[in-house]
Amino acid sequence: MPAYARVPVVTWEVKVELERALVRRHSVRSFCGRPVEREVLERVVQAFGGAPSARNAQPLRLRVVREQSLRQRLQSAYRGGWLSEAPVVLVVSGVAREAWVRRDGVSYLLCDAAIATDQAVLQATALGLGSCWIAAFDAEGVREALSLPPEEEPLLLVALGYPPDGAVQPPRQRRPLEEQVVWL
Ligand SMILES: Cc1cc2nc3c(=O)[nH]c(=O)nc-3n(C[C@H](O)[C@H](O)[C@H](O)COP(=O)(O)O)c2cc1C
Repeated sequence: MPAYARVPVVTWEVKVELERALVRRHSVRSFCGRPVEREVLERVVQAFGGAPSARNAQPLRLRVVREQSLRQRLQSAYRGGWLSEAPVVLVVSGVAREAWVRRDGVSYLLCDAAIATDQAVLQATALGLGSCWIAAFDAEGVREALSLPPEEEPLLLVALGYPPDGAVQPPRQRRPLEEQVVWL
């Protein structure tokens, strides 16, 4: 049997679920008190770990921060006071020397981080969680908060949790596609 024949069939429902997650995902900065189940987090983590990376270098690490004391420490490395409301914070870090670097010196570390983080965020959305990417943190503060080893660079945080009941999805503010896309 050829290798491609062993790939599970992508059903119509799977496609619709992905599209639904793409449309439903928006930044959530307020959370209800409901704890996030371990099984849900495991599926989010699997989505992260299954992401592609340039030359399959896999230079990323992920910390799933649930302990309140550690979340408080992360809060002190980020100005938005809402972060401590999130019951879970994902901390994405990378080891620069493991990342693929193009001949002209461009490192694909951040690109790899964005792909894996987006996969985690979309899976979280599909499972009913709200999330918000965070880049505007103090990297040294995050490093200290979690005692990251020197070779790991904190790249992204993601706040995760169930949104409050009745939260409404704000309308998207996006450039029209005609301004973003060139068909050649
Ligand atoms: C790489 C990245 C970094 C971001 N950093 C922050 C941040 O530090 N703080 C914040 O409140 N939102 C942050 N956001 C959320 C964006 O502001 C948000 O995605 C954007 O305004 C579009 O809104 P939407 O996510 O609801 O579609 C970030 C988003 C991305 C993709």
